Amino acid sequence: MAQRQPVSDPPEVADEQRHAPYLDALVDYASRNPARLHVPGHKGGPGADPQLAGAIGEKALALDVPALTWGIDVGVEPTPFNESQRLAAEAWGAKRCWFLINGASQGNLVAGLTLAHAGARVVVQRNAHSSMIDALILSGLRPTFMRPEIDPELGIAHCITADTLERALAAAPDAVGATVVSPTYFGAVADVAALADVAHSHEVPLIVDEAWGAHLAFNDHLPAHALSRGADLVVSSTHKIIGALTQAAMLHLAHGSERWIDENVVDRCVTLVESTSPSSLLTASLDAGRRQAIAHGRELLDETTHALVETRNAIRAIPGLDVLDERLVGRPGVYAYDPLRLVTDVRATGATGYEVATLLREVDDINLELAGENVIVAVFGMGERAREQGQRFVAALRVVVDRLAPDGARASREFAEAPPWGELVMGPREAFFAPQEVVSVRDAAGRIAAESLAAYPPGVPNVLPGERLTAETLNYIQQTLELGGSLRGATDRQLRTLRVVAQ
Ligand SMILES: Cc1ncc(COP(=O)(O)O)c(C=O)c1O
Repeated sequence: MAQRQPVSDPPEVADEQRHAPYLDALVDYASRNPARLHVPGHKGGPGADPQLAGAIGEKALALDVPALTWGIDVGVEPTPFNESQRLAAEAWGAKRCWFLINGASQGNLVAGLTLAHAGARVVVQRNAHSSMIDALILSGLRPTFMRPEIDPELGIAHCITADTLERALAAAPDAVGATVVSPTYFGAVADVAALADVAHSHEVPLIVDEAWGAHLAFNDHLPAHALSRGADLVVSSTHKIIGALTQAAMLHLAHGSERWIDENVVDRCVTLVESTSPSSLLTASLDAGRRQAIAHGRELLDETTHALVETRNAIRAIPGLDVLDERLVGRPGVYAYDPLRLVTDVRATGATGYEVATLLREVDDINLELAGENVIVAVFGMGERAREQGQRFVAALRVVVDRLAPDGARASREFAEAPPWGELVMGPREAFFAPQEVVSVRDAAGRIAAESLAAYPPGVPNVLPGERLTAETLNYIQQTLELGGSLRGATDRQLRTLRVVAQ
């Protein structure tokens, strides 16, 4: 199927934003048949396995060049690499942007390591991504956790409210920063302006993990993006919704953030957790992703969101299914809603999201971003054949629902809410590095966890290193595994055993 062509270019895009200097330089290098007396060993193609060459194409191999290649990221300043990062900063309205080749995960590590230069405590949304927990382990920062708003109906976590942040910062006067997630996996967007006001009134920066929101800057019909609402450092997983290659992400530093964040410290922290061989393909995809987003994001996102309105209506018309949408706005922790996540509530089918996901694969090879007990989540991208994909999804859902209840009889289910988090009795870093032992899950309640346990989905860590394990939490994780979920962070993914701090 042909890729859609954008209808027209928005007039206000600066000319230079229509260029991709890094990609241009890379293409130029590959096309002039240089003597490649450098890595990688496939030498631009000849040394590669033929099946790999066939699968990804000779051109991709030719463009795979190392760092420090003259005319690309070294040479006459500003280099194409510098230029492409500058254009990205401008596109998102940042003072400075760093390209990350280790995902938004790298961005969270950088945020933690940067804050640790300023002090020893940070206020953290408890359901932060696991990379933020890893940042606590690497940096040694002591967390004061904030509980996100849990949706009373669906049992999914929404965002942090300004009141929650205010209370957390008041209780942690030594905190040197606050980190929150927005949008969530399920599309809830936080009131970042209110959160930034609270953080700044306590003289600390607000770090927003906007892994799911790289597209928000490019369409006025979508919720405003975090940098535009006062965030100081924003982690962006550019590959998730915008078309960069998997693992390619960005870190944006806001204008005016120098009061709390030293740009040079961020820069050093970026290199600290980055390979010395960043992929030129990933880097070029960030350069091109930025151009595509700024030049065509408005129309592409309009098309996707319009198609999703139709898709949502069609799903709602299927007995037993409902979909989340902007009606969530106004619930605690939901300031705005990002429609690019299509969250289908399957409770009234009587089946779990895991079962529905399996059936969708069987019926028409439909592969989802996430399946949980109550919901399934489909992700739509900035420029995709959203109408067609939506119709295919809806048709498969109809078949699945019919299979589940051929006679129309359905028994609606209630969700099982995750039990409260255990008490943090040791810093995550201390617990991670403490002498440890492996115990049977039957003997683990009451012990201090040395590893994270995140029943997935929803991927909210149920247990962090340093927290006391409770029987309720261990039971909950086991139930999730039995229902078809998985476990992240644990050494034993079946949770027969786990690592705890030695007594
Ligand atoms: C909120 C959040 N932050 C960070 C990440 C990490 O992103 P990446 O996979 O680009 O490293 C994810 C990944 O799903 C995420 O959901």
